[in-house]
Amino acid sequence: MAERPIALAMTGASGACYALRLLQVLLDAGRAVQLVVSAPARMVLAMEEDLKLPAGATGIRTALAAHLDDAAIRRLSVYAIEDWMAPIASGSNPPAAMVVCPCTSGTLAGIAAGHSRNLIERAADVALKERRPLILVPRETSVSVIHLENMLRVARAGAVILPANPGFYHRPASLSDVVDFVVARILDQLGIDHELLPRWGAQRDPAQDDD
Ligand SMILES: Cc1cc2nc3c(=O)[nH]c(=O)nc-3n(C[C@H](O)[C@H](O)[C@H](O)COP(=O)(O)O)c2cc1C
Repeated sequence: MAERPIALAMTGASGACYALRLLQVLLDAGRAVQLVVSAPARMVLAMEEDLKLPAGATGIRTALAAHLDDAAIRRLSVYAIEDWMAPIASGSNPPAAMVVCPCTSGTLAGIAAGHSRNLIERAADVALKERRPLILVPRETSVSVIHLENMLRVARAGAVILPANPGFYHRPASLSDVVDFVVARILDQLGIDHELLPRWGAQRDPAQDDD
């Protein structure tokens, strides 16, 4: 049986680069992706990536197709943020897992409150109630007590809070190495094999074990 798709929601926090890289890696790994992009996310994509996505699912898919190969684009479904007929809107057809990357404080609050006022909040609500993995990648600094309480609330409901918070112990040589640090952690949570970074301890010199 084919693996169920991964739902990827992009919201309007800084760090659109994480979402674009995650989308590319998931599609290249042969996974079907169900993508939803908020209107503020389109603004951030234009500012940070010079990627101008039109409103509407068909326009977004066409614009992304210019950056993907044919096999990858066949695996990509895009849904409008008000598309209540999308598969991810119902617990009867949930994805394997959902990632909100990057995740704004606003969408975090909407999920924590169970608002389901747009497709992203609704699909996250479905993931929680169906006990499917839900990975939120917040990008904000500093964080208020409200942000912290919302993170705690969704974590207690079963979500994984995975801040866009790269480490530097892998000695990144480029910005893409920094981005890959966060994307690798997301893939680990999804249980998807990757070789974006060396694994901790994998390059240990056995001779040093005697010290
Ligand atoms: C360039 C830009 C950067 C932003 N960065 C952040 C951010 O890092 N974190 C955040 O929570 N909101 C950020 N915002 C604010 C959100 O986009 C705004 O709160 C929006 O209403 C969120 O809507 P959404 O969750 O539906 O995408 C940013 C907005 C812009 C225009």
